[in-house]
Amino acid sequence: MSTLVVVGAQWGDEGKGKVTDVLAAQAQVVARFAGGNNAGHTLVVEGKKIVTHLVPSGCTYPGTACVLGAGMVIDPEVFQDEVATLRKQGLLPGDELRVSLDAHVIFPFHRELDGVREDAQAASGKAIGTTRRGIGPAYEAKAARRGIKIRDLFEPEALRERLVRAASVLDPEFARLGSEVRVQIEANLEAAKAWAQWLRPMVCDAGEVIAEALQRKERVLFEGAQGAMLDLDHGTYPYVTSSPTTAGGVCTGLGVGPTVIDEVWGITKAYTTRVGAGPFPTKLDGDAAHRLREAGGEYGATTGRPRDVGWLDLPALRYAARLNGMTGLCVTKLDVLAMLPEVQICRRYRDGVKPGVDRLEAAVPELERLEGWGDASWAAGLSEIRRLEDLPAPVRAYLDLVAEAVEVPIALVSLGPDRDQTIVLRAPF
Ligand code: IMP
Repeated sequence: MSTLVVVGAQWGDEGKGKVTDVLAAQAQVVARFAGGNNAGHTLVVEGKKIVTHLVPSGCTYPGTACVLGAGMVIDPEVFQDEVATLRKQGLLPGDELRVSLDAHVIFPFHRELDGVREDAQAASGKAIGTTRRGIGPAYEAKAARRGIKIRDLFEPEALRERLVRAASVLDPEFARLGSEVRVQIEANLEAAKAWAQWLRPMVCDAGEVIAEALQRKERVLFEGAQGAMLDLDHGTYPYVTSSPTTAGGVCTGLGVGPTVIDEVWGITKAYTTRVGAGPFPTKLDGDAAHRLREAGGEYGATTGRPRDVGWLDLPALRYAARLNGMTGLCVTKLDVLAMLPEVQICRRYRDGVKPGVDRLEAAVPELERLEGWGDASWAAGLSEIRRLEDLPAPVRAYLDLVAEAVEVPIALVSLGPDRDQTIVLRAPF
């Protein structure tokens, strides 16, 4: 086995950053295939916190190639800042970064438009709750074939034309929304010149980089962003992100064929969280929500927004397993669940409501209280355990229940934010 896809199996924030970081120790290439800096991956290495938004989680291993694929949207300003911060921390010492010439660029006007639109929608109570990073407007331009690719930054004349086209579409929209913002063609051309110079050593055909790595028998880890329920096609539309978040996106987002994928691991928290608007069947309110949010530190890594929290939603997880062709399940934050006075789980929705067929707005969870949880005698020590057989019986029973309901074996268990607070049950490659 030489390739593994790691994807979020819920609404994002499942701990993909940490899991990818652990698994990347065994890979020579880590490649992201979709999304942009709406993602926020928190890694803790030897007690030091590292947050990445665009750079793949392989960045903690000097010499491991970190590839940003064509399916991504890249804000060069954010990218430059992030790389500078990582380099200050002693990471990315060499030529690890590779950026697809075909990735799309997020310009300042995309960010502005995202915010202006959200404000306008909020007034009518219909905001998506986006991260306001310009993700939607950049993907929208891509689909409308007026987007601007990384490769365009190297061709000033063509870029000017693309910017004029962007202005012709977006300036009237800014005006309609009552905003003074306009697409600044000269300022963007100037900025693009500097971005191009900085990006020049890293641009590539990402598909070729991966094909060559596979020819050399290297191991490639494909890193997803967000989670299955935020997938543009299969998620809780329209409360989704603007890109594929499921394993199929690896192929289109990096320019590789499906036959190169060996394994697909989905990451789920031991409970559920969601940020932004949209259906969330097992969502908790009041004190119970407050307790879980505080226990899990459930605040967005990108926006700092408090996340909505709730019990593990097995029908949604089962759906995610199918969408991804999952071969392994990674369960994170079991230590957080153990801190709660009681634990519930949703095995099914009432009236046979089914994800994929029915809208999740219609889903009312049937909740079941689990025995043996809320026990301080073992909860505090959970993060120190390193073998499956040493886990307390309720935790093992929980993992068995999840694996059986989702019909995917558990591949990894995470018991805390640090790299070593992990039990790996199956070889990733
Ligand atoms: P956008 O991706 O910024 O357009 O936001 C669309 C939706 O996806 C919103 O509900 C966001 O909160 C959500 N979203 C985007 N990225 C992430 C993520 O990394 N974690 C969790 N939710 C996300």
